[in-house]
Amino acid sequence: MKKRIVSGITATGNLTLGNYIGSIKNLVIKQNEYDIFMFVADLHGITLPIDPNELRENVRKQLATFIACGIDVNKTKLFKQSDIQGHTEMFYYLTTISNEGQLKRMTQFKDKLIKNNNKTEQIPLGLLVYPILMAGDILLYNAEGVIVGLDQKQHLELTRDLAIKLNSKYNLNFKIPEPIISSFGSKIMALKTPTKKMSKSDSDLNETIFLLDDPKVAKEKIMTSLTDSENKVYYDKDKKPGISNLLTILSVIKGITIEECVNEFKNSNYKEFKKSVAEAVAELLETIQKKYYSLTDEDIQNALDKNRNKIQQEASLNLEKVMKGFGMR
Ligand code: TRP
Repeated sequence: MKKRIVSGITATGNLTLGNYIGSIKNLVIKQNEYDIFMFVADLHGITLPIDPNELRENVRKQLATFIACGIDVNKTKLFKQSDIQGHTEMFYYLTTISNEGQLKRMTQFKDKLIKNNNKTEQIPLGLLVYPILMAGDILLYNAEGVIVGLDQKQHLELTRDLAIKLNSKYNLNFKIPEPIISSFGSKIMALKTPTKKMSKSDSDLNETIFLLDDPKVAKEKIMTSLTDSENKVYYDKDKKPGISNLLTILSVIKGITIEECVNEFKNSNYKEFKKSVAEAVAELLETIQKKYYSLTDEDIQNALDKNRNKIQQEASLNLEKVMKGFGMR
């Protein structure tokens, strides 16, 4: 039996090079080895106000981008979260064994509060309970592993706690999911402020490379990214966050180790090094975009239809177990 993995990406903003390196690439590589359930998290996308048309557009773009990056629906069960019945229901059962204190301690919640000016009486409850919905996504498929970026590790801890509680309180036997954090740079940093994470919702577009950026624009973003004044290429995350970030990007795209990468550029100046990174990124984007722009709405619909029944079956099965455990059946 193949190990079952769940992964999702929230349907806000456009996918970035950070998403590609942190999770999509890992999923593409692991498609043969694992039984993967991968979805666009549109329910998570509404935890902060978003225009419905923008949400729809994001979902379509993300699905097409996943396929363009090499997610193959003959191997991977790709879906839209809200297409499958059970996510919101599983969430509800889990709220009954969750507590407010634990949710308020989540760093991502705290960060979002700061970004949104911290007006306590205006915090949407959805933002607070976001991690419970995420736990529901994982338990709904009784996954053994979850592919996430480093920033989601705390949410996964909560999921594990909830799974343990669920099993012991209601005599169930859900798997306790393990985080699978990609072995290569799972956290890509912002280009001009390499001490913060590259984010799809950054207000400064020059901080982020979007997978659908014009490759020429992407090159320019790399060339003008912040480095340091030493002009010597080596890896030191604390002293040289900018150069280290570019080394991570290049090594993942080329499929080589950081050491091999450093070795190749140890005699280069920053301009030469940046040029190589820019070329590699542009080439990657060109390949992805060629496939992306060839996909029709029908292709995407077919991809969603392909495994819909199997996915729903699995979700219903696990939801029934929970309902029975709670005494609804
Ligand atoms: N919270 C994740 C993100 O911000 C998306 C997500 C939702 C997810 N549900 C999940 C990831 C379940 C892994 C498993 O991108």
